[in-house]
Amino acid sequence: MSSLAEVSSNQKAPFIVFEGLDGAGTTTQLELLQTWMERTYEQRVYVTREPSNGPIGSLLQLALCQRVQLDAVSLALLFAADRVDHIKSEMKEYLENGITVLCDRYYLSSFAYQLRDMPGGLAWIESINDKAIRPDLTLLIDVPADICMDRIQKSRWKMELFEEPEKLKTIRDNYLMLARHRQSVERIEVIDGNRDPQEVHKEVCDVVKEVLITEPRT
Ligand code: TYD
Repeated sequence: MSSLAEVSSNQKAPFIVFEGLDGAGTTTQLELLQTWMERTYEQRVYVTREPSNGPIGSLLQLALCQRVQLDAVSLALLFAADRVDHIKSEMKEYLENGITVLCDRYYLSSFAYQLRDMPGGLAWIESINDKAIRPDLTLLIDVPADICMDRIQKSRWKMELFEEPEKLKTIRDNYLMLARHRQSVERIEVIDGNRDPQEVHKEVCDVVKEVLITEPRT
């Protein structure tokens, strides 16, 4: 079996991640970007998300909708394990075959969300995620917590584990701190998501153009 370290060296297509609070609109932006990349660049694009649809991801889904209770450390370990499984069983193959991967959430979610329940634990959370390949670009769709809460309440009647105003406020602060803190390690672009989705999409495209490998269709 090949090691994860080999993934990046064999990678032949960009790996792009969307991040943001619940309700920030990452899924909408990811879908708009997929359509734009396929049409404009004729790129083959694979869309995925974390938690994944694999066995560990399924257990995490149960924890998120609060059907099973897990402590903060177990949750952090499971998110990291799901990530390794997701890379090995899905994303690695696409990237090695020249297919762009767009992922809705990745390790920055673990850093921002799990840190909330273990202040001071960033180094440990980073260490359990150190087998995960680094994205070429992370787009952080930034929306204030109260606006996200409003959007969630209008679209659903049942709240998930982290969907409380105070929790989301801390997680947003964590995201913005991490975007600064990790600038020397990887490319993270903060995009104002509190705008019309098409305006947000336009800015997303401008940033993505810089990491795309192929020229646009003429
Ligand atoms: P979300 O992306 O909104 O998916 P769904 O459509 O299933 O609600 O929810 C995933 C939740 O999991 C979100 O609250 C963030 C949280 N999460 C973490 O806490 N750590 C992680 O590493 C990941 C990937 C997600």
